[in-house]
Amino acid sequence: MDDRNNTIAGWVLFAGIIALGGTILTGEMFHGDRPETMGYPIEGVELEAGAEEAKPVAFYLASADAARGEAVFARCAACHSINQGGANGLGPALYGTMGGDIAGVPGFAYSDALASKEGNWTWEEMDAWIASPRSYAPGTKMTFAGLSDEQDRADLLLYLNQQTSNPLAVPPPPPEEAEEAAAEDAMGEDAQKAEDVPVLDEATTDADDGSSDGGQEVPEA
Ligand code: HEC
Repeated sequence: MDDRNNTIAGWVLFAGIIALGGTILTGEMFHGDRPETMGYPIEGVELEAGAEEAKPVAFYLASADAARGEAVFARCAACHSINQGGANGLGPALYGTMGGDIAGVPGFAYSDALASKEGNWTWEEMDAWIASPRSYAPGTKMTFAGLSDEQDRADLLLYLNQQTSNPLAVPPPPPEEAEEAAAEDAMGEDAQKAEDVPVLDEATTDADDGSSDGGQEVPEA
């Protein structure tokens, strides 16, 4: 009797150990795969989002609104006049600035940083200046942190371009290129996800089938 009991107890214990081992192995396979599946698409999304941020000013000008730009100019009005014939203040009078010479307002004492800049205020130059005066002209006297929002800047530039007798032509938007590029990026992103997911799913499914079959067969034998 003792022998038989021991034998039965031994088989029950053995079956339990095999079943437990199978469960642990299966669980580890699930847990091991899951972070990999989630990780790759997230990295891709972050890269795409970063790439989308670098759009030319012409892109934002396409949907710019001069009335909104006039509201943005309230942040500049403490130092700048904008009306025709307006006086210099803390900053130079800005009527006629768009398209005009950089640091070209008569009677204003510019910093060397800005006075040494060559050329005219184009859309691109003005956009870079307003984004960060300190980066554009290190040592400038304009103590304004800058406008980080691309659309705010485009609105403002469109407004400034109305405050001149000689406005610049508004550049044609680059929408086809930009939209095509964005569409391609989105497709590339989906394609990466689509490639990654089935590969990992197949591996997971195969591994699970193998280990659970093994766990069931051993106690029967
Ligand atoms: C605190 C005062 C102050 C504020 C606010 C300010 N500016 Fe200025 N701005 C200046 C000064 C000072 C200069 C001259 C900079 C230099 O000589 O380095 C300047 C120069 C400029 C110039 C160059 C003009 C030229 O003759 O080439 C432009 C354009 C300009 N500011 C636009 C703006 C706009 C647009 C805003 C609002 C978004 C703004 N500024 C806000 C003080 C200011």
